[in-house]
Amino acid sequence: MKLEFEIYSKDTMPTEKKAGEISCLFCTNYPDMYSDDTREYDISRYDSSQKIQQQIKDGNFYITASLSGEIVGMTKFRKEAHEWLGSWIMVKKEYRNKGIGEQLFYKSYEALQERAPKDIKTYLVLDIHKENTPSIVLFERMGFERKEGKSEEFWKFKKEIVSN
Ligand SMILES: CC(C)(COP(=O)(O)OP(=O)(O)OC[C@H]1O[C@@H](n2cnc3c(N)ncnc32)[C@H](O)[C@@H]1OP(=O)(O)O)[C@@H](O)C(=O)NCCC(=O)NCCS
Repeated sequence: MKLEFEIYSKDTMPTEKKAGEISCLFCTNYPDMYSDDTREYDISRYDSSQKIQQQIKDGNFYITASLSGEIVGMTKFRKEAHEWLGSWIMVKKEYRNKGIGEQLFYKSYEALQERAPKDIKTYLVLDIHKENTPSIVLFERMGFERKEGKSEEFWKFKKEIVSN
C-alpha cells in the first residue's frame, strides 16, 4: 500500500479544502466508545476546518496519510514542555487493520525526532480510553509504556523520542 504523507505546521498550512477533509475524518471515524454529543462538541471546539487552521497557527501539527489523493488517516500533536501530546491518531474505518496506523505512527515519530532537542529527554504521550482495544494493541506493539491515566477510564501511553 503506497501511502503519501503530508505534514501541516505553521510553515506549511493546509488549504481550507484540505482542512475540511481532515475535519471530515472526525464525523464518521470517531472512536465508538464516545457519545455523538462528545464528538459534536470536539468537532465544533477543535476540529472544524477553521479550528484546525487556527490550531496549526497556534503550534499544533497534523500529519495526514493519503491513498491516491484521498486522506485515509491523520495524527495530531502539540508540544507542552518536554512532552509531545498526541491528541489523535485516526484511520478511516474502511481502511483499518491494514497497518496504516502503524505507518502513521512511524512517520509521526520520525517528524518528532527531527524536532527533538539533543540535550533534553522528550516524550510522546497519548491518553487512551481503556476500552479502545485497537489503539492499545497498536501502542503496545510500538513500544509505548502503559501508565496510570488522567482518570480511571484512561491509560497514559508514553514513549521517549530518541533524537537521531
Ligand atoms: C487506533 C487506530 C488509529 C488504528 O489504526 P489501524 O490502521 O487499524 O492500525 P494498524 O492496522 O496498524 O493496527 C491495529 C491493530 O489493532 C488490532 N485490532 C483491531 N481491532 C482489535 C480488537 N477488537 N481486538 C484486538 N486487536 C484488535 C489489529 O489486529 C492490529 O494489530 P496487528 O497488526 O498486530 O494485528 C484506528 O483503530 C482508529 O482510527 N480508531 C479510532 C480513533 C482512535 O480511537 N484513536 C486513538 C485515540 S487518539
